Amino acid sequence: MNALQFIETSIEDGIGYIFLNRPKQLNALNRQMVSEIVSSMEAFDRDSQVKVILLTGNGKAFSAGADIDEMVNDNPISMELTNQFADWDRMGLVKKPVIGAVKSFVFGGGFELALSCDFLIAASDTQFSFPEVTLGVMPGAGGTQRLTKLVGKTKALEWILTAERINAKTALQYGFINKIVAPELLMEETVDFARKIAKQPPLAVRMIKESVNKAVDYSLYEGMQYERKNFYILFASEDQKEGMKAFVEKRKPNFTGE
Ligand code: CAA
Repeated sequence: MNALQFIETSIEDGIGYIFLNRPKQLNALNRQMVSEIVSSMEAFDRDSQVKVILLTGNGKAFSAGADIDEMVNDNPISMELTNQFADWDRMGLVKKPVIGAVKSFVFGGGFELALSCDFLIAASDTQFSFPEVTLGVMPGAGGTQRLTKLVGKTKALEWILTAERINAKTALQYGFINKIVAPELLMEETVDFARKIAKQPPLAVRMIKESVNKAVDYSLYEGMQYERKNFYILFASEDQKEGMKAFVEKRKPNFTGE
């Protein structure tokens, strides 16, 4: 991995940590930072030590969105030529589960980054918002698509057009976060959650993530075919043999990830 300027990473007990690290700018996401986040996710995805990726922010907030200072003079041609959102597409290809631990401001591109995670644990002080409309633009890193697929058109359109701040309770009610925790317990609770997934057989975990994600884009029939193929594939794994043998022998399985 190249030297990281805007994030910090570490690995401990099967969890690959990514900390957004521009706390003075409320972790506003500049292009280099997004590139570092995606490259680190991809490196963790290939690292057999890592079972689960945990993404959070240093300092008060998760992220106040894309870096407006960097964007203020952008033009359509430069954005097309640099293909600046391609990094965001790569994030969606990460196979291991990504858990976001969010707090305080989760705005704009920060909200889009959160919605790119597979699970969100939110501190009770979290506020989600898409303020782009107030800047004369709109979400550009998946916000209109991901939020709509998660909560339906009615609320997505209302929230994106009003830039309303959505609190953690409402987020839980609409099902786009998994859990609300006290701010001081955010990391502890998220790590506990990450550990539960980290101890599952890794091949089954990635096939399940892939299959559930297909349900969002595929028809029921196509999704069922995809699920079935993944189910069959898992019978080629050692972990399937170990998991079922352990059940029959009435003992705990010892999964190796193979
Ligand atoms: N870009 C650049 N800098 C930002 C930033 C952003 N998105 N958000 C906050 N900052 C900077 C502020 O400029 C400030 O820097 P200085 O100390 O150098 O002045 C510092 O972070 C702290 O921010 P505030 O003093 O404003 O903190 P606050 O607590 O008073 O307000 C806030 C917090 C309500 C989140 C406010 O900072 C804010 O409204 N930020 C902008 C939010 C926003 O519009 N995000 C969407 C960006 S567009 C986008 O994300 C497009 C996309 O889809 C990819």
